[in-house]
Amino acid sequence: MLEQDRSTRTLAVDIGGSGIKVMVLNEKGEPQTERNRLETPQPPKPEPILEAIASLAGTQGEFDRVSVGFPGVVRLGVIKTAVNLDPSWIDFDLETTLKDRLGKPARVANDADIQGLGAIAGIGVELVVTLGTGFGSALFVDGILVPNLELGHHPFRKGESYEQQLGRFALDTVGSKRWNRRLEKAIVYLQNLFNCDCLYIGGGNTKKIAFELPPKVKIVPNISGLLGGIALWRD
Ligand code: BGC
Repeated sequence: MLEQDRSTRTLAVDIGGSGIKVMVLNEKGEPQTERNRLETPQPPKPEPILEAIASLAGTQGEFDRVSVGFPGVVRLGVIKTAVNLDPSWIDFDLETTLKDRLGKPARVANDADIQGLGAIAGIGVELVVTLGTGFGSALFVDGILVPNLELGHHPFRKGESYEQQLGRFALDTVGSKRWNRRLEKAIVYLQNLFNCDCLYIGGGNTKKIAFELPPKVKIVPNISGLLGGIALWRD
């Protein structure tokens, strides 16, 4: 059993292209429940996803507030892009809807930003990329987020974006060997572009990485996508 804590409990939610994950964190950001997961409903429209979140929330006991990582650009709790979900998400006020649905205050941010908040040291220039259904990115300077960085849709090579070359679809299509060669190139490009003190790589497909990472590059555990949720409440 995980040690229970009576301080403010945050339900952390990570909405992904293939799975929706939840876990309760205490005020220090420590896990208070076992992580639970449901497959992302298909088609991934707002209503079935909200239903999945509500049903997962029901498995987590008491919580006081909600943090959500969403796989797209989020501005003031409103979804602005949702490339790997459904176009009906555009301009959807996820923060207000969840607050009404779960009856608790909610904060919503980009999934890679949350992953980064759960991983960075807060010193110097730190870049976080995530390898999952999509290609997520978050840039931090001394722990401060540079908002709305969408490297995934930026040109990478052969007329394709980072996401087209390194997202889940590419991995499934070209296989692990070619995907790994592409990732090695991407790391070099990104290091040359950002000259970061550390490049963190997160997301479910990090388990497919089959080469030795260069210096200043670290793999972060996928659970950071939930643990980082606590940072949304640090005002
Ligand atoms: C989205 C990003 C997101 C990433 C990972 C991309 O397609 O545009 O906002 O962080 O996927 O989910």
